[in-house]
Amino acid sequence: MATATKSAAEKSSETTYRNKDAVNGEFVHVDAIDWQTMPEPFAHGGICWKLLHVSPELGAWTAYYKCPAGSYFSAHIHIGPGEYLLTKGKMEVRGGSAKGGETAYALGYGFEPSSARHDKTYFPIDSEFYMTFVGPLHWINEEDGSTVAITGWKELQDVWLQQTGQ
Ligand SMILES: [Fe+2]
Repeated sequence: MATATKSAAEKSSETTYRNKDAVNGEFVHVDAIDWQTMPEPFAHGGICWKLLHVSPELGAWTAYYKCPAGSYFSAHIHIGPGEYLLTKGKMEVRGGSAKGGETAYALGYGFEPSSARHDKTYFPIDSEFYMTFVGPLHWINEEDGSTVAITGWKELQDVWLQQTGQ
């Protein structure tokens, strides 16, 4: 006769594993989304963005950026890694190649590791790029490294929903 008593392992598996729904696939047509302006103090010079996806469980988000000539992102540290595809123009990362960093030009792919510090990321000509970020960005004061803000998928989504009136 089967006993109703459960072993410690059975109890543990009941509390450790949970059924979860599969994540649905998504598609968005980028041209169907209106550009929004990336706010200061994060971006300067009219950088616009489209938030394409957020992944709460992974702590990731994906966006497409349009960066006019002379625009730039403020200093930040990537707490997690990121991958980008520069689809148009030129982007000076980590000071650009003249300062030991990278000058990316289209069509260009780049990977930035966890803890990558990006002081001013500058766009000398009209540029566009796609990027997936894993983990938050730690925005810092370029002079003394003090924290300006930390933005993860939730903060970015909040900004996007506010900007788009959703
Ligand atoms: Fe960056």
